[in-house]
Amino acid sequence: MLESDQEEYILSNKKSWDDAAPRFFGRSSLPVYGPFLPTEEELDLFGDVSGKKVLEVGCGSGHSLKYMASNGASELWGIDLSDIQIETARVLLSDSHTKVNLFQGPMEKNPGIPIEHFDIVYSIYAIGWTVDLGQTLQNLYSYLKPGGTFIFSWEHPLHSRISQNGEQIVIHKSYHDEGLQQCEPWDSPAIMNQLKISTYINELIQAGFQLEKVVEDVVIQEEIKSGDPAVWYTHKKASLVPPAFIIKCTKK
Ligand SMILES: C[S@@+](CC[C@H](N)C(=O)[O-])C[C@H]1O[C@@H](n2cnc3c(N)ncnc32)[C@H](O)[C@@H]1O
Repeated sequence: MLESDQEEYILSNKKSWDDAAPRFFGRSSLPVYGPFLPTEEELDLFGDVSGKKVLEVGCGSGHSLKYMASNGASELWGIDLSDIQIETARVLLSDSHTKVNLFQGPMEKNPGIPIEHFDIVYSIYAIGWTVDLGQTLQNLYSYLKPGGTFIFSWEHPLHSRISQNGEQIVIHKSYHDEGLQQCEPWDSPAIMNQLKISTYINELIQAGFQLEKVVEDVVIQEEIKSGDPAVWYTHKKASLVPPAFIIKCTKK
């Protein structure tokens, strides 16, 4: 893809995220990884973060960074495309006793994040917005100290290829089709990469990561068994295919 096309997509995604940001404040944040996924309290993928230097990619409103602060992380760093999200995160973290560094910018570029500095780099429901997964993973790999951990959650690629039509579940798009596409539930221009699970895994290996764990488990709680098929994530779909996944890996 041409660099100018990439920049155009990033710019239009920034505008859409600035507009949409208030709807998402604190919506996908630790200890929650994403819809119908087990929580960090159940999985304990991060382990003890006290004294750890952490960076969140696509940090949104800063709620996951706040969770890291409350668990004793020694440095909080975040990058997000949206000015509105970064400003919200700045306010949310302003009473933190921990060192905070926030950058507005795309994860595809390094805006001045130190190399080999972090014990943990993580991303909660944001990485799939990258228009260049290979470049993004190279960046994240470079920020980690050797032996450091990278954990991310994202929508499962099967989820957007299957739709619920009343009680029927329909496969309306091929799993094999990959590439940049309009994000279905958004009205405004919002371009994201539709990739296969194998592509995420192979790109991680290509960047130099060693895989530790892949989570595709689904937790359906009685109280959120809403049957409304207009909702993007329904328990009916979740009972058939995972709506989201998590990968934990380390820098060799
Ligand atoms: C679902 S939100 C993540 C929320 C976050 N985990 C929290 O705790 O608030 C996804 C975030 O990805 C950001 N984003 C989208 N494209 C991006 C890009 N190319 N680079 C950096 N951030 C991006 C959006 O601005 C948005 O804040």
